[in-house]
Amino acid sequence: MNPRKKLLITGGLGFIFSHVTEYFVKKGWEVVVIDKQSTGSHPEIIDGSFKNYHIDVCNPEAVELILKEAPDYIIHAAAISDVDDSTKKPLRVLEKNITANINVFEAVRLLPRFEKFIYVSTDEVYGECEMKKKEGDTLYPRNPYSCSKAAGSLMHIAYENTYPHLRGKIAETRFCNVFGPRQDSRKIIASIKRALDTGDPVPLHNEGTGFREYIYIKNIPPAIECILERGEGIYNVTLNDGHTVTKLIERAERATGKKVPTHPANRPGMDLKYQMDGTRIMIELGWKPQYTFDEGLKEYLESKA
Ligand SMILES: NC(=O)c1ccc[n+]([C@@H]2O[C@H](COP(=O)([O-])OP(=O)(O)OC[C@H]3O[C@@H](n4cnc5c(N)ncnc54)[C@H](O)[C@@H]3O)[C@@H](O)[C@H]2O)c1
Repeated sequence: MNPRKKLLITGGLGFIFSHVTEYFVKKGWEVVVIDKQSTGSHPEIIDGSFKNYHIDVCNPEAVELILKEAPDYIIHAAAISDVDDSTKKPLRVLEKNITANINVFEAVRLLPRFEKFIYVSTDEVYGECEMKKKEGDTLYPRNPYSCSKAAGSLMHIAYENTYPHLRGKIAETRFCNVFGPRQDSRKIIASIKRALDTGDPVPLHNEGTGFREYIYIKNIPPAIECILERGEGIYNVTLNDGHTVTKLIERAERATGKKVPTHPANRPGMDLKYQMDGTRIMIELGWKPQYTFDEGLKEYLESKA
């Protein structure tokens, strides 16, 4: 019998990666999570089916631990993931996210052997744009959060160039806005759901003109699986379902027949538009999304989550 594949995920209790943790556990992989259980974390998924370390990745102990666990696959997703937090406390977010990146890249560099390392980045590293960004386009992060994420994208280039044994073994994802169960209710689609469920109004930044692409959470774990198995380099992950917040609210109202209450709000320095070309992962890795935006939106808005 083949030994089980061992996957270590930093931030494996967060919104997106709690789903990834559960997906690979179900597939029979040996999963190890390092998560400090802060904002966005879902410790309620801890059920003994995976190994869990309640540790901050910024702690040097995390490097020792990754070396001790010696996983076949590593995903680094742990990050303070909120733009508003980063504009209020830039030093904290830059320091924490970049230190976490350094520790994980260092641990990966020192591992005697591994199959693949995925650094989880974001569409925000491209900055505001009027054209769909491709993976090779210049990074132009415009807030402290995306700057901390772009630091990891640059480390990806630096480590592959400097350490030949890492070449071809580091991959990177750049997701558009992911939505679905377990998302922090400050995020737009989660706050629309909360407004529909409780009447709590949605803060409408910049009069609802902000344009983002959205993808349902259930599409993410299979995309990660394709990249772990066959991926190399950077992959934008988007279905090009882009909407302004005003349009999103209209769609949610149409889907549910209910009114979404809103109140005006402002976000300093907010980028108005992100969009990416997501064809590389589909053409080169054959990844096919299982849910369209509308199917995901309907399932999420009707769910009890
Ligand atoms: N949510 C999105 O739409 C989106 C889009 C693109 C990229 N991303 C990236 O995906 C990853 C996950 O995003 P999310 O929305 O699920 O975030 P989240 O905030 O829900 O989860 C982050 C998890 O990481 C943990 N964590 C944070 N810093 C840590 C540290 N220093 N040490 C240990 N654990 C730590 C938290 O406890 C939490 O469980 C992040 O890297 C984020 O930048 C998210």
